[in-house]
Amino acid sequence: MKFLDELALDGKRVLIRVDYNVPLKGETIVDDNRIRQSLPTLRLALDRGASLVVCSHLGRPKGSPMPEFSLKPVARRLSELLGRDVLMAPDCIGPEVRSMAGSLKPGQVLLLENLRFHPGETKNDPEFSKELAVLGQVYVNDAFGASHRAHASVVGVTEFMDECCGGLLLKKEWQYLGEALKAPERPFVAIIGGAKVSSKLGILKALMEKVDSMIVGGAMANTFRKAQGLEVGTSLVEDDLLEEAMGIMVAAREKGVRFYLPVDFILGTSPTGPVGAGVRTYQDIPADGMILDTGPASHTLFSEVIKDAKTVIWNGPMGAFENPAFAQGSINLCRAVAAVPGMTILGGGDTNVIVEQTGLTDKFSFISTGGGSFLEFLEGKELPAFTALEKKS
Ligand code: 3PG
Repeated sequence: MKFLDELALDGKRVLIRVDYNVPLKGETIVDDNRIRQSLPTLRLALDRGASLVVCSHLGRPKGSPMPEFSLKPVARRLSELLGRDVLMAPDCIGPEVRSMAGSLKPGQVLLLENLRFHPGETKNDPEFSKELAVLGQVYVNDAFGASHRAHASVVGVTEFMDECCGGLLLKKEWQYLGEALKAPERPFVAIIGGAKVSSKLGILKALMEKVDSMIVGGAMANTFRKAQGLEVGTSLVEDDLLEEAMGIMVAAREKGVRFYLPVDFILGTSPTGPVGAGVRTYQDIPADGMILDTGPASHTLFSEVIKDAKTVIWNGPMGAFENPAFAQGSINLCRAVAAVPGMTILGGGDTNVIVEQTGLTDKFSFISTGGGSFLEFLEGKELPAFTALEKKS
């Protein structure tokens, strides 16, 4: 695959697909990490004498304009971060946008309005792709977070542009995640948490082929507990996946992968309620108890498992962390991963929120900007955007 740092861009107009799908409260950007992460690519292209037409989706507006999904607040933040004006287009395609793009001078930046205001984006419609393609002379994909979507701005557009490449963020994601999966330094430990086994089945199976140890936490651990015949009280369980869960544990034994579940828990009555029966060990869950977080003995166990790891991949919380009463297990785990001297890679929306909360952002080797794309990459799935770029190399 070709990347931006290999191209001469003098005087060229570059169409850059980024992932500015940032959380908003009204017009306030709650977390601007994705905008910050795109800056090296934008700055490199500007330093090399290009003008930029930047495009992104925001939210899921279903193919028609919705003011609450406008990228205008992003244009303002981008302008502050870049330290230069960012022009805001009224749309992402059409004659007015073409004329704005056409009159850009080197060093100027135009941000297009939300791509998903048109149905052609998610349908990967060739007509929409062509309309995007005429806006630039070189195409750069720096939207790792959207690279698992076969949408026009990440796939279709490449058919209509001669020069296509990945941006610096895409390169970083590709190198870190790719390296970790291809040739991990060992011991290699995966920590997978979150609510549902069903959404992580693929990743559990794929990582089982590669790791030395696997830790499963969060509500998904309940399904594994129940498969082992242990009491789970009123906790969230996916009864239709008990066999799958058992299959994963059998596979671990057969492959010599050490498999760890939490050994103690914080109980409550609901994810939004207060702590109920306090800390309970794994044999001591009452029939009316709800498991909502991992306890201190689990923390000690997990810390011991990861402390000498040379590679750690972590995705997903250990409990109902949105409620401070059940956040400690995730916070403790985050601190333990941050203290590992080996390579530490993490990703996924909730995991990133935990890291933000603990203020440990700079203590990890790499934090992926992807949510679904991070999981699909780890599952070993081909990401459509990568395939499209590879075809052009
Ligand atoms: C994300 O936030 O994971 C990406 O921006 C993709 O968004 P989507 O799930 O709406 O396609």
